[in-house]
Amino acid sequence: MNNIPKEYKIEKHITHKQFLINGEIKEWNGKMANVLSTLLCDTDDKEPTLLGTTPLMSKDLAIEALESASKAFNQGQGIWPTMKVYERINCMENFVDKMVLKREEVVKLLMWEIGKNLKDSEKEFDRTVDYIKDTIEEYKIIDRNGAHFQNSSGVRALIRRGPLGVVLCLGPYNYPLNETFALLIPAIIMGNTTIFKPAKHGVLLIAPLLEAFKESFPPGVVNIVFGRGRELATPIMETGKIDVLALIGHSSSAISLQDLHPQKNRLRLVLGLEAKNPAIILKDADIDLTVEECISGTLSFNGQRCTALKILYVHEDVKDEFLSKFSERVDNLKLGMPWENTLLTPLPEPSKPNYISDLIDDATNLGAKIINKRGGKKQKNYVYPAILYPVTHEMKVYKEEQFGPVIPVVSFTDVSKPIDYMASSNYGQQVSIFGKNASILGPIIDSLVNLVCRVNLNSACQRGPDIYPFTGRKDSAVSTLSVHDALRSFSIRTFVASKDNELNKGILREMIDSKQSSFIRTDYYL
Ligand code: G3H
Repeated sequence: MNNIPKEYKIEKHITHKQFLINGEIKEWNGKMANVLSTLLCDTDDKEPTLLGTTPLMSKDLAIEALESASKAFNQGQGIWPTMKVYERINCMENFVDKMVLKREEVVKLLMWEIGKNLKDSEKEFDRTVDYIKDTIEEYKIIDRNGAHFQNSSGVRALIRRGPLGVVLCLGPYNYPLNETFALLIPAIIMGNTTIFKPAKHGVLLIAPLLEAFKESFPPGVVNIVFGRGRELATPIMETGKIDVLALIGHSSSAISLQDLHPQKNRLRLVLGLEAKNPAIILKDADIDLTVEECISGTLSFNGQRCTALKILYVHEDVKDEFLSKFSERVDNLKLGMPWENTLLTPLPEPSKPNYISDLIDDATNLGAKIINKRGGKKQKNYVYPAILYPVTHEMKVYKEEQFGPVIPVVSFTDVSKPIDYMASSNYGQQVSIFGKNASILGPIIDSLVNLVCRVNLNSACQRGPDIYPFTGRKDSAVSTLSVHDALRSFSIRTFVASKDNELNKGILREMIDSKQSSFIRTDYYL
């Protein structure tokens, strides 16, 4: 503990008992869950560090949170869904001003709870703040675009986007702030009401923001509960009162939660799920550039990103050069503590090192070799990235989303091999293609764009910049998230239509002049 810089030390256990329901921060006095950090438990005799405790809330409070959100929405008649757009924007601006004050606290907890390095933890916080600010600006544009009447076939219409209802938000542990807020913020600003449960890791870091939520939004608009998904999300879904399930995580959770809803046709889905993004390295690829992109693509945050490169297809002609340069780079990577800003940091899930080792054993038993010298070296909280070659379809690592530091490599001579792999895969998020020849790349890209939703040319896969669409095919996503698209995903078009006659024109004119309606107006916010 002594080598930890003073500013990153956790001085005492954080006993977090609070939750937010119906605009009130209350204390939970029941069972608590330990929040453990794997950062310092590198050897078998060292136990994870106890950072603090968080509530294991009960089913009745989950239902209370749901009722609070339902009451605040009140079938679209509540204060929040009928509020003027600029008033909702004011609430969100107020929230973001309060949120930035918590940067240091949240960044420190990101490092301790999920092992994300300092630079990336700061980036996660700052990116989220930017996302909120960009969302506010984008909402103004959407509102402005809806601030005029159309007239077609004798019918006048004012078309805007309206909220959908009550949203259950569940985020992932790898981006416990950013990805969760990328669901929560657009859902809230569009006039929906929400229940949010933090992910399995990255829970304490939400605590410093409770007060900001409470002070910025009317009661019931944001409800934050802590505990197990089974205990909290299950009874909420069973009521059938959830209008949107917003989840970034595994498809198995998304499917079981949907199945609990008694009227599935009413349930809208905004899902970011698993992926197995390949890199395809053609024979004319710039190998040095490809190696660098594959390092960040496969190993930033130890490969615990849905957008990580999870299988590499290398042309037979450049396989040896690529493997030798790539292995050298991987073996030179340092494993360290998050505040040391190393690319490799301890894995937050206690069971992950064994899972990664199992994948490596399974592949080597079936004929793959560990190509890099340090590959597979294990400690209690980490497994050193293993480059596995040749990987074949019988191996688990060929199909499973490893979400951790192991890199399967397959060679090919005909590009139809990786394309067929992608076509038969359950996933369809992104791909990276490395090469130089435009006439070869062109037709390949034409195939790839119909198999995934983003083709990265000579660069690793990634979600950002957040103004671009983030989505996927097959089991990888439902709905699209970008600053703009998320506002669409959490809303529906709704409009007022009238026959184009003097009576209706007069009524509409009067409504606009007297500003009696939040919906029928032609002014907009700058
Ligand atoms: O876990 C998946 C994230 O959306 C990845 O985002 O590409 O910005 O790391 P990123």
